[in-house]
Amino acid sequence: MDTLTIRRPDDWHLHLRDGAMMRAVLPETTRHFARAIIMPNLVPPVVTGADAADYRDRILSAKPRGSKFQPLMTLYLTEETQVGDLRAAAEIGLITAVKLYPAGATTNSASGVKDFTKVKRVLENMAQIGLPLLVHGEVTDPDIDIFDREAVFIDRVLDPIRRDIPGLRVVMEHVTTSDAVDYVRAGGPDLAATITTHHLVINRNHILAGGIRPHYYCLPVAKRETHRRALVAAATGTDTAFFLGTDSAPHTDTAKLQPCGCAGCFTAPNTLSILTEVFEQHGALDRLENFTSLNGPAFYRLPANDDTITLRKGEPVSYPAKIDTDDGPVTVFDPGMPLHWRVIED
Ligand code: DOR
Ligand code: ZN
Repeated sequence: MDTLTIRRPDDWHLHLRDGAMMRAVLPETTRHFARAIIMPNLVPPVVTGADAADYRDRILSAKPRGSKFQPLMTLYLTEETQVGDLRAAAEIGLITAVKLYPAGATTNSASGVKDFTKVKRVLENMAQIGLPLLVHGEVTDPDIDIFDREAVFIDRVLDPIRRDIPGLRVVMEHVTTSDAVDYVRAGGPDLAATITTHHLVINRNHILAGGIRPHYYCLPVAKRETHRRALVAAATGTDTAFFLGTDSAPHTDTAKLQPCGCAGCFTAPNTLSILTEVFEQHGALDRLENFTSLNGPAFYRLPANDDTITLRKGEPVSYPAKIDTDDGPVTVFDPGMPLHWRVIED
């Protein structure tokens, strides 16, 4: 098989940023993806319906001419989030989900939640209207080892919330451990997970062995190889609870290459080539479409896209090492293996 036609993919977790950075990275996503869930961790974050409307307008006006790309907006949950504002934004279809960052867990998460009892009423309302909660599933307790933070979050935070608020629909974002995969598999129809492109490819050795590689540093940090294998099994398997959220998270090289550098892998340009390669390696090309284009819409109760893209296999494809932005260059994720599949029809 050397061509593969699939329904047009969606990206269920994307950082587009704002301003010059957004203008530079947006075409990398709109080229192949029909829709994306847009992360709200701007500075300041997208916390109200009005913020989301303004941000959506900025995205739509930066979108390449003729593109039908649809940004699916999210609100950043804070302890001050107002139920009325959130419900109104959901009712008019302005927002598709709400993002929960534990305070301090990652880039621009200082306004996140510290005391989960303070957001209980908001979460109950979300359960009533079926609005999904997207969780950055890591505890921030400095006593917890960074490689254990996802597993501990499930036990200490996520499972208690889900028991407390039955019917709350939850997506565990960018899962990185077999613990999370097992939890999602057992979680029933109201629980799903996104998996990034880079976590299917790298383990923690890629970041740390033989020299430190800041472009592989992201959060949650990549774990050991057994966990990466569990993620590949979940993505390429038959469980519809797993779907693509690239977490493509551009930072300038200046911001990455610091004594304290930013977390994030920029995968938008080459994600589909990488995923197709990974699925082929695992004999699962026939399930790529489920992961990129069908399971996500099914969970979000949206129709799958009508149109298709075609990938063709051939000589290794090269991608630029960096893209230029008016803020400075941004390094494209290097999967460390030849990529043979390219998107030929949009
Ligand atoms: O690696 C990451 N980068 N993980 C996140 O959770 C946030 C993201 C960002 O915004 O840069
Ligand atoms: Zn993210």
